[in-house]
Amino acid sequence: MSESVITFDNVSKYYPLYHHLTGGFKHFLFNFPQWIRTLKHSRFNALCNISFEVSKGESFGIIGRNGAGKSTTLGLIAGVLNPSQGKVAVSGRISPLLELGAGFHPELTGRENIILNGVLMGLLRVEVMRKINEIIAFSELGDFIDQPIRMYSSGMLARLGFSVVAHLDPEILLIDEILAVGDIEFQKKCVDKLMDFKKKGITMVFVSHSLDSVKMICDRTLWIENHVVKMLGSTEEVVGDYAKSYAV
Ligand SMILES: Nc1ncnc2c1ncn2[C@@H]1O[C@H](COP(=O)(O)OP(=O)(O)O)[C@@H](O)[C@H]1O
Ligand SMILES: [Mg+2]
Repeated sequence: MSESVITFDNVSKYYPLYHHLTGGFKHFLFNFPQWIRTLKHSRFNALCNISFEVSKGESFGIIGRNGAGKSTTLGLIAGVLNPSQGKVAVSGRISPLLELGAGFHPELTGRENIILNGVLMGLLRVEVMRKINEIIAFSELGDFIDQPIRMYSSGMLARLGFSVVAHLDPEILLIDEILAVGDIEFQKKCVDKLMDFKKKGITMVFVSHSLDSVKMICDRTLWIENHVVKMLGSTEEVVGDYAKSYAV
């Protein structure tokens, strides 16, 4: 087994749980100390005791139902979230393609957002400029590239986001449900690009509801259910059992 570049050691992530003032304002006022006590103890477990490792060059899938904790896991890898408990270790430059349009500025044009994102990923402006035509061509956004991205549809944002991360020499690529939006043709282009990365030995963590893509791309897969690890193993086995769990 080669060196691991991502390690989760018993990681948990809690979010504070916000309460509504169900009893009305007077009730809230007279029970204030008690209210504060409950507030302190209410938290929502988005992930509980998750452990796994991703090796250098591995394509690692994460599957599970909505709300299971997949995006939280990617956020922890990307370092945009901190674990509440446990340890997350990552070595290498992360190129995250997280939730749609995250890291994009709505008032900037597509072209400006490409530059902004490249720089945020740690590249020099000249390095981004060297690739920008290739990125724009891949996105197939045409004249829209010089429009502010608040004019973009979700499919167009996905095109832009994928084109950026796919062309800036990622070391560790994180992909969150990019295939859920956009047209079939572009999805196919994304999958082809991801297969290229796989051949080149780039480490990938791929979150998707498209089980066929997971089967094609990922060596191993983690199934998260209700915020815990349900299964971790070869993609064939895990996806097979996951699909069976859906069958009625
Ligand atoms: N910022 C947040 N504050 C509170 N709860 C959150 C936050 N982000 C996610 N959650 C909750 O954590 C759980 C896991 O979310 P997420 O990781 O986005 O799931 P998935 O990507 O698998 O659909 C969900 O129940 C979600 O509602
Ligand atoms: Mg998600």
